Formats: sequence, structure tokens, C-alpha cells
Amino acid sequence: MEEPRETKPDLIAPHGRVAMVSGASRGIGAAVARRLLGEGFSVSVGVRQPAETRVKFSALDSGRLLVSRFNAFEPPTAQSWVNETIARFGRLDALINNAGILKPLSFAEGDESVLDELWAVNVKAPFRMIRLALPYLARSGHGRIINVASTDAKRYRDSTVSIAYAMTKQAVVALSHAAKFAGWEHGVRVTALCPGAVETDLLKGLAGVTPPGSRIAPATLAEIVALLLRLPNTASVAELIVNTRLEATI
Ligand SMILES: NC(=O)c1ccc[n+]([C@@H]2O[C@H](COP(=O)([O-])OP(=O)(O)OC[C@H]3O[C@@H](n4cnc5c(N)ncnc54)[C@H](OP(=O)(O)O)[C@@H]3O)[C@@H](O)[C@H]2O)c1
Repeated sequence: MEEPRETKPDLIAPHGRVAMVSGASRGIGAAVARRLLGEGFSVSVGVRQPAETRVKFSALDSGRLLVSRFNAFEPPTAQSWVNETIARFGRLDALINNAGILKPLSFAEGDESVLDELWAVNVKAPFRMIRLALPYLARSGHGRIINVASTDAKRYRDSTVSIAYAMTKQAVVALSHAAKFAGWEHGVRVTALCPGAVETDLLKGLAGVTPPGSRIAPATLAEIVALLLRLPNTASVAELIVNTRLEATI
């Protein structure tokens, strides 16, 4: 007898699906790549130092891992990473724009060049990747894009937050909604994932951040990514805020 609909979630099986993850050399990206490989995805990681990342993942390489060179400051590496992914796996089902940087900038301190640097890595590179990946994601019929933004994308907490970081991460949310409209009719669903403090190198030496014991583990965020990728086209999560702090609106 067939299971009743209310007891059987219509999740998408990971096997045979291909996911690209940027910035998987460490931190959240590495945890996501590891989790997706464990789920059964074929995973294409885009990193600045492929040789080092190959060593890091060598114990996991099951023939479903591709390590390509990708540097957000070098636009041709976006195209070559997509080309290498398609050449190796022949399809694309998910793009996780994870690579990102955080540098301090306030009205009192810091050079305007920080704005350019963060814009290039946090916004322009994901835009470029989405542009290149969308035709393949549309062909999948259930393509997914997850852009790793931040709680700083959803509100301005206080003056310890880098203005440049908050500005670029808020732009990532706009980019995510635009991509959702661009891909919707072809089954592409897009999430702006907005975590609070995650236990990675990104927060090293920063004032005002959530203390280590209260941060999100990268592997926890990877679980959330894995779930988002399994949701059917009928369960679109446009924004997902994962906070570590008590705040009124997020
Ligand atoms: N940690 C947090 O509390 C937190 C909270 C919310 C959102 N996020 C976001 O989560 C994402 C991942 O951050 P994380 O915490 O995992 O930071 P992380 O440990 O510092 O890792 C950053 C990753 O981005 C890569 N990257 C940096 N610049 C790059 C460039 N020019 N081209 C290509 N890749 C580049 C790094 O590669 P290399 O190893 O080559 O430097 C690394 O793989 C970022 O978008 C960040 O803004 C983090």
C-alpha cells in the first residue's frame, strides 16, 4: 500500500546530482563539500590553491570530487571552473556561492579600497557564477543556488560590524532574489543563507562578535545546506536566517 502523503516528504535524492561549492578550502565551504560528498552528491569545489585542497580531501575522494582553481579576483577562473565541472560530470544541479571575505571598515577608520575588495569577492563573483551556471541549473529541472550571506545582511547590529561587509552581504540578498526570478520557471530555487557567527577563521581577531562557545559549528551549517538541496521545487526557501543571538527581528 502506498504511504499517505502526510507521512512521506517529497525530498530530492542526492545521488547523481552535481554541486559546485566555492571557497571549500576551509571553514563553511569545506564542511559543506564534505557533507555533500557524504550525502552522495558529486561535488566540484572552486578554490584558490587546488593542490592544497586535493591533499585536504584526499581521504574522501571517492571519484565524485573535482577540485578546480577559482579566484574571485580573476573572472576567467569562474568560466574555467564551470567548464571543468561540465566536462567532468556533464551536468549541474546546485551552486553554493560560499567564498567570502570580511575586513573592517567604519566611517572613522579604513580605506575605501576595502569596499572594492569586498564587492569583488562577496558580490561580483557570486553574480558571475550565477550567470554562468544558470543555463545548466535550468536544464536540471530542480537546480538550486545557495548564496551564503550573513545576519549582517538582514539588519545593522552595531558599530562593531564592518560597513563594507554589511553592505556587500545585503547586496547578496538582492542578488539571490534576482536569481530566484531568473530561474523560477525552469525549476531553479534560490536561498540567501544568513547565518550568525560560525566557528571559522573569518572571525579571528574581530571585536564584538559572538564568543567561540556560542558560535554555529560549520558542520551544522552544512546540514542546513544539505536539507535545502533536498527540498522539492514546491518548497522554496528564499531567505534562511540562522542566529546565535537573541535579537528582536531575526
Ligand atoms: N564565519 C562566520 O561567522 C560567517 C557568518 C556568516 C556568513 N559567513 C560567510 O560564510 C562564507 C564562508 O566563510 P567562512 O566563515 O568559512 O570563512 P573562512 O574560513 O575565512 O573561509 C573563506 C573561504 O573563502 C575563500 N576565499 C577568500 N577569498 C577568495 C577569493 N578571492 N577567491 C576565491 N575564494 C576566496 C577562502 O579561500 P582561501 O583558503 O584560499 O583563503 C576560504 O575558502 C563567507 O561568505 C562568509 O562571509 C561567515
